[in-house]
Amino acid sequence: MAHRPKVLVTVPLEAEARNRIANCCEIVDGNIENITDPDTAFAAQLAEVKGLLTTIRLPVDERLFDCCPKLQVVSNYAVGFDNVDVPEATKRGIFICNTPGVLDSAVADLTLAMILCVGRSVLENDRYVRDGSWQKKPAPLCHDLRGSILSLLGMGRIGRLVAKRARAFGFEVLYNKPNRDHNVERSGLATYVNRDELFRRSDYLSIHCPLSAETTGSVGAAEFSLMKPSAYLINTARGKIVDQNALLAALDAGVLKGAALDVMEIEPLEATHRLCSMPNVLLQPHVGSATVETRRAMVDLAVRNLLAGVTGRQPEAVVNPEVIPQLAQG
Ligand code: GLV
Repeated sequence: MAHRPKVLVTVPLEAEARNRIANCCEIVDGNIENITDPDTAFAAQLAEVKGLLTTIRLPVDERLFDCCPKLQVVSNYAVGFDNVDVPEATKRGIFICNTPGVLDSAVADLTLAMILCVGRSVLENDRYVRDGSWQKKPAPLCHDLRGSILSLLGMGRIGRLVAKRARAFGFEVLYNKPNRDHNVERSGLATYVNRDELFRRSDYLSIHCPLSAETTGSVGAAEFSLMKPSAYLINTARGKIVDQNALLAALDAGVLKGAALDVMEIEPLEATHRLCSMPNVLLQPHVGSATVETRRAMVDLAVRNLLAGVTGRQPEAVVNPEVIPQLAQG
């Protein structure tokens, strides 16, 4: 059989996707622990690997690149790529790929679900029925969503879909991002405000920016102190954008009414973590994209990116296009 490039796969795949890869590649299975700390036999396999299909849980950095000197492509099974040292990959001529576009609706749906859940006290009212309170006292009232202010920190593909859904519920939508998006404003989807105003006016502040050196810990005590004590923080982006200790302090002190988090500073969150015992915090296990259809579309794109990269073609979703001219030079 003709020589097939070796690819390392850390993502559990359905048979169909796995077969697509196996048709033209030799698959090496790996988990994070044995990749970051390989024994001699595994290190020998890594030395031959040309493609990597992985998740955001694997740090893809200089150390990994050194272990895999023949690497041509890293296909991240995620839209985010904050686990990857992109400049270092670019220096080495390695394509870094992600799965943009295909998960936007699913993440926007979960964002709205969490906003509706905290805004309409869905979990509190569930507990109220189950613990017998219904027989004893009237259920507390919450506030109309219609007319509430939803502030979006970031306004990319997912932010726009969140804004669209929120507008259908009658929210007023504000946004802030480094480069103002006039199309968003022209289409009446959201109003641009400065960063302080965004936090100050929000009833719900939802995060939709990528994690980067600039955004790490960028939502913290100073931002919470601007918010109304009746406001909620919603995060379906990355946990590390929020200073989690500052969030705990703000929730304890009543600076904020509550939070709905699909992402945390460290994942998976331990069940003994203080967030888990706070009744004013709604928690989800990083499942923004976790629907059958969306995950299939992500796998499909991630596999296409991988196969293109290991066979010397340009992958569809490349986050470091600077590598493309190097491909042309062979
Ligand atoms: C999930 O967090 C993703 O980046 O796709």
